[in-house]
Amino acid sequence: MKIKRIKIVGTGFYVPDKILTNQDLEKMVDTSDEWIVTRTGIRERHIASEEQATSDLAAEAARRALQDAGLTAEEVDLILVATSTPDTIFPSTACRVQHSLGADHVPAFDLSAGCTGFLYGMIVAEGLILNGPARRVLLIGAELLTKITNWEDRSTCVLFGDGAGAVILEESQDDSGMLSAYWGADGSLGELLILPGGGTRIPASHDSVDQKLHYLQMKGNEVFKHAVKRMGEAAVEALKIAGLKKKDVDFLVPHQANIRIIDATGQRLKLPPERVYTNIQRYGNISVASIPVAIHELKESGQLKKGDILVFVAFGAGFTWAAVVYRW
Ligand code: UT7
Repeated sequence: MKIKRIKIVGTGFYVPDKILTNQDLEKMVDTSDEWIVTRTGIRERHIASEEQATSDLAAEAARRALQDAGLTAEEVDLILVATSTPDTIFPSTACRVQHSLGADHVPAFDLSAGCTGFLYGMIVAEGLILNGPARRVLLIGAELLTKITNWEDRSTCVLFGDGAGAVILEESQDDSGMLSAYWGADGSLGELLILPGGGTRIPASHDSVDQKLHYLQMKGNEVFKHAVKRMGEAAVEALKIAGLKKKDVDFLVPHQANIRIIDATGQRLKLPPERVYTNIQRYGNISVASIPVAIHELKESGQLKKGDILVFVAFGAGFTWAAVVYRW
């Protein structure tokens, strides 16, 4: 019996034009290009304009993915937006994207799983496509972190950028596609990476704003340790489920939060650096957008051959983590 699986039939991404370099940041907070590069790998990041919201970035990435797949927006059955920085708490960013694309009446909803949201989204889309309710899914990872960044906090403001990546998913007609997935979460550690204010726990008030609770807070070195452990574990487990070995992996496409986390995950899979895709130098941490942007760039770079085994792996707020093994 043929194994049913989903595959990516189109990719696209969008990052805003404005670039903020480490040298620019040196003028804003007590930091240095040297510290940022050696501790994170980041050299520059793209920053949204004042007028842009997350759905604007998402819709542009979606248009490019649709064009790549040769499809119109009405030809998708579901729009799924993974984001932690929605335009508004409600309506969803996905519904805004649906309107922007003119995808009349196509169902749309958001998924919140921190930086892991794109991989959670792939797993959800797989279930829906293989079981019937959606033949074709437009999955977008979009994040506009710079509007929830405290630009006076050097421990976070040097890390993040804005961007969106999109893929079109449908049932595979050949051997290529998603082979396995492994996912997990640990809600007990949520406070280590959090946007505390503006929700129902701490509603927005003068006081919450005075206390800067509408900005992202992170205990970086704590998050770092968990990210290294969970990303390595998830990649190994997903390979096991696919019945593959570390030596079968052609490319690792990890979430881009820190070059040292990326290197550690590559080493866990015993991969040489040229088999580990990185773009953190140019974008910083764009959270849920990092993997779809990397997939698009890797595809466009011409390095991928049909049949190559890819491992996508991520870790993020929640905590959440996931890995997907994919045959190109
Ligand atoms: O995407 C979702 C998940 N997110 C992540 O995975 C992020 C994980 N965490 C990290 O990437 C790293 O922990 C950071 C890059 C955030 C920080 O690197 P670190 O090596 O863990 O540094 P640290 O927080 O332990 O700080 C070391 C020192 C401190 O100074 P002292 O106390 O040793 O004197 C900080 O105050 O570096 C200082 N520092 C800075 N110095 C210059 C912190 N931020 C900066 C900065 N510039 N921007």
